[in-house]
Amino acid sequence: MTAPSTKPHTLGAKPLASVPLLDLQRQFEQIRAEVLAAVGRVCASQQYILGSEVESFERDLADFCGAKEGVGCASGTDALWLALVTAGVQPGDQVLTTPFSFFASASAIARAGARPVFADINAATFNLDPTQVEAHLRRSGYRKLRALLPVHLYGQCADMDRFQVLASEFHLAVVEDAAQAIGAAWRDRRAGSASVAAAFSFYPTKNLSAYGEAGLVTTNDPELAAHMRRLRNHGSSRRYVHEELGWNSRLDAMQAAILHVKLKYVEAWNEARRHHAARYDKLFAEATLTPAKPGSEPASVSHATFNNQQSTVSESSPVQLPQTSPHAHHVFHQYVIRAHRRDELRKFLVARQIGCEVYYPIPLHLQPCFVYLGYREGDFPEAERAANEVLALPMFPELTEGEQRWVVASIAEFYG
Ligand SMILES: Cc1ncc(COP(=O)(O)O)c(C=O)c1O
Repeated sequence: MTAPSTKPHTLGAKPLASVPLLDLQRQFEQIRAEVLAAVGRVCASQQYILGSEVESFERDLADFCGAKEGVGCASGTDALWLALVTAGVQPGDQVLTTPFSFFASASAIARAGARPVFADINAATFNLDPTQVEAHLRRSGYRKLRALLPVHLYGQCADMDRFQVLASEFHLAVVEDAAQAIGAAWRDRRAGSASVAAAFSFYPTKNLSAYGEAGLVTTNDPELAAHMRRLRNHGSSRRYVHEELGWNSRLDAMQAAILHVKLKYVEAWNEARRHHAARYDKLFAEATLTPAKPGSEPASVSHATFNNQQSTVSESSPVQLPQTSPHAHHVFHQYVIRAHRRDELRKFLVARQIGCEVYYPIPLHLQPCFVYLGYREGDFPEAERAANEVLALPMFPELTEGEQRWVVASIAEFYG
């Protein structure tokens, strides 16, 4: 007999044909007229590369982040490269980052001519663990280390206080990979405002997204910004004079104009994501799929409180919810659970056309192109465990309550 829809684990959910992981169409419908007007404006101006559209977007984006300068470029990957090189990273240097991130966090280090070095993540936040970084610095020395590159994964800032303290003790630059964290904050400082330089991506899936490729670096140092502006333009500040070897990584006016339209909505969109995260938490609690958290506030008003204990998922407690540090303003670029029998659950959801994704299935120290770094399986157990357990669920501002109910009820049915 089928359980009546009032049973807790069904959550009163109505079956749906599909739930997308991300639906950009719904966003476009809200802003269509403004976006098309901006595109028309750029076409009428015939200024397609850099120019006033780019400059005014750079200013407003820097303001939004609480930084003095913004330098637009072609992608988040290029933004990381610009940030690292202008922060002083040179061939032969080392840069320490997380092994649990998108590939570009490490490839940009290699592209700057430096060697990526990894330390393990914090099991609760999935972010680079300052305790592991400190252990590495005291154990392995830091003679060749030039910078720390924390990544604000899934929209939650890494522990910037402790990285700043370590950076000043060991004379390192802090460069933020803020690709997933526009509008996020650590205490009262927004991502992109409290480091030497911070890299943002506007890849179409991001919380602030272009209609193509785009990125930007923020910094509080006007000299660094001027250097970035040269580097993104073939190392040139005067036409056909190349002071150094740069690259073509300019932001185009069309993307800047579209991003500028969207920038004024980002705060509200981030709030919607936070609201949906709290609702997921509540629904998972109703479905009794997660262990009760001592001291946590009612799920309806707050997402799960920070818990630095080693997490485990098991048949009796198959789901672990995202954990948020009390110092972090999380903008839920992704809502990522740990799931018991993750790959089976994923197949089950995909068969129901419920969007879900693994960010990221192979930690960076085990990527084939980084074999030369000499790392092995087992070197970073928390990153490796996360790679086997994480699953991102549908998350975007326009996601509906009915969709969330169906996602959680489906997961409850899987664990049955
Ligand atoms: C953490 C992280 N770093 C860097 C990047 C690179 O950004 P892009 O794809 O714009 O080059 C991304 C996005 O894809 C990212 O998620």
